Amino acid sequence: MSGAADIPIADLSEAQAESELARLALEIRFHDTAYYQNDAPEISDADYDHLRQRNDAIEVRFPGLKRADSPSERIGAPLTDGFSKVRHRRPMLSLGNAFNAEDVTDFLAGIGRFLKLPDDAPVAIVAEPKIDGLSAALRYEKGIFVQGATRGDGEVGEDITANLRTIADIPKQLIGNAPDVFEVRGEVFMSHAAFAELNRQQAASERPTYANPRNAAAGSLRQLDPAITASRQLSFRAYAWGEVSALPADTQAGVLTAMATWGFQVQDHEICLDAAEMMAYHGRMEAQRSERPYDIDGIVYKVDRLDWQERLGAASRSPRWAIAHKFAAEQAQTLVEEIDIQVGRTGKLTPVARLKPVTVGGVVVSNATLHNEDYIAEKDIRVGATVLVQRAGDVIPQVLQVVEPGPTPFVFPSVCPICGATAVRDDGEVDWRCGGGLSCQAQAVERLRHFVSRNAFDIEGLGEKQIKAFFDAGVVKTPADIFRLAAEDGQGRDPLEEWEGWGETSAQNLFDAIEERRAISLDRLILALGIRHVGQGNAKLLARRYETLENFEVAMSPENLEEILDIDGIGEKVAKALLAFFADDHNRTVWDDLVRQLQVQDMERADTASPVAGKTLVFTGTLERTSRAEAKARAEALGAKVSGSVSAKTDLVIAGAAAGSKLKKAQALEVKVIDEDGWLALIDGNTERDAEPKEEEAS
Ligand code: IVH
Repeated sequence: MSGAADIPIADLSEAQAESELARLALEIRFHDTAYYQNDAPEISDADYDHLRQRNDAIEVRFPGLKRADSPSERIGAPLTDGFSKVRHRRPMLSLGNAFNAEDVTDFLAGIGRFLKLPDDAPVAIVAEPKIDGLSAALRYEKGIFVQGATRGDGEVGEDITANLRTIADIPKQLIGNAPDVFEVRGEVFMSHAAFAELNRQQAASERPTYANPRNAAAGSLRQLDPAITASRQLSFRAYAWGEVSALPADTQAGVLTAMATWGFQVQDHEICLDAAEMMAYHGRMEAQRSERPYDIDGIVYKVDRLDWQERLGAASRSPRWAIAHKFAAEQAQTLVEEIDIQVGRTGKLTPVARLKPVTVGGVVVSNATLHNEDYIAEKDIRVGATVLVQRAGDVIPQVLQVVEPGPTPFVFPSVCPICGATAVRDDGEVDWRCGGGLSCQAQAVERLRHFVSRNAFDIEGLGEKQIKAFFDAGVVKTPADIFRLAAEDGQGRDPLEEWEGWGETSAQNLFDAIEERRAISLDRLILALGIRHVGQGNAKLLARRYETLENFEVAMSPENLEEILDIDGIGEKVAKALLAFFADDHNRTVWDDLVRQLQVQDMERADTASPVAGKTLVFTGTLERTSRAEAKARAEALGAKVSGSVSAKTDLVIAGAAAGSKLKKAQALEVKVIDEDGWLALIDGNTERDAEPKEEEAS
């Protein structure tokens, strides 16, 4: 900025003040249009408030320079076309702002002076959260909702009755005895959940997403087609009123209670008797801010007695009996001191900006996620840049934009900062991943947890909790360590039975369970490695193709890519991930160490003579005489491929009880369908089957 914009108000000459007021009028008008009309604010609320405050303060110092089009005389923005206009019978005012304890005390003192109350006379204040949405006026005649309007410029709003009718929180007819005419005012807003869902849908249908819930609420309310508004989940809270033929109470809190009995959701509120109580309420609400399901941006204080509200009246834009006490700004500017790379449990590399500590929304922020390489490039975030950071609700702070660029572009590293293994970013993916797999310390716990999971080694008594404890104590760092636990128990550390949570029996049981798993099938072993894209299905395909550990080990080398791709069902992504894993020296070491501990069982040769060999089967519905898992295993042992969905490639569908859409699809595609008995008859003689009925398993 240049010219008078940086000069303190006290130092402004008259000429400078005049040009400042002209600049501010223009700038505030611009931002009003961006905010109210386009639902696309370009500056933070805090910066906007600063503009308004500066304008007001200059006008106080130079009253003669106040412009005819002064922003202090205006609320909101001029109207757009599209909806018919509604003249508010009582203006919809805005609120003045308080930013600190002093402003709050001044507000109370001003009220006392205005009303000529004796010193220390208590003024009961209703305090309530200020919702960050849009205000609306709802007119009820004889209890029936007849018209709803936006605030517009405070004098004239837009008729959005049809849209407001679609909001569930807005009663179409009031309960009980409401006055003949009662105009309820309150806030239309969108919850975080509804906002996330809306943006998900917008993105899915390639429509623009909304920047925040307030913009989304505004955009949803402004739809010319009420059906679109209805599809958005908007909420409403009542907190004020306009024209009324009678009032149901003589206090603010009393009217809120009455509105609640008529069927409104009213904003939660509390009575405060002095500035200390108001500050305490503000502090409490600010602390809980992030737990609320919707955005609030401050507290509104209102004089409880309505006769006092009446006497206090309004100054130009806002009532004297109410004020908004804003929360600390949730955006701030600061310097990027460093860009670090964090390695997640699954090997994902996440760039993090180390920031010069700055207070954002009352919290000191020194880190912000940078998401991925593209995010950094798109915003051109560099070490040494000054950036705008935001804390939305209370999610991890984000870098919104660069304010001052840094010297050199950031180059995303291609090695893992933890283990030094090569990192890769696959085609079509946004994330870089560490290729260190089993040996990368950042991923160790997650890898070990996966290693012992149910479909992999499935070691009884060794779950996530125990793995974490063993890892932290340094006794299990790699999978092979698990199989050395018993041998090393008590050697150089306390025996397990003396650890907290373990006893002699449980320790022995664990060692037995581990011992039992030394003999492991090849497919479980492959799955246990936790290679990306290699899940249970692919692990089985590989194990069946190579049958023995020796064959498999020989095959895991780059020149065999084509051979691996020849396996029916194994695609390029899988094959490459597999070979990349075995190409890494760290992984090879861990693998060699592990297999020395194991007796890897050869895969049973699939029965090629069976009636289902080479066929693609789908099981659906509830099987009554066997579990789904067993049926699948048996089908696979007979050389069939078991798929989860029915397509033209399906050869046979086995439909159990209560089969649904898959059965329908099979019938539509004219795929052969048999029931459970038919299935058992088909495979009878090929395998042995225990006669006992198994527990049911839902589809
Ligand atoms: S009272 C004359 N109470 O804040 C009193 N306003 O800057 C009028 N708002 O236009 C408003 N929550 O859109 C009031 N609990 C609350 C509020 C609230 C949000 C909004 C409303 C108003 C703006 C004032």
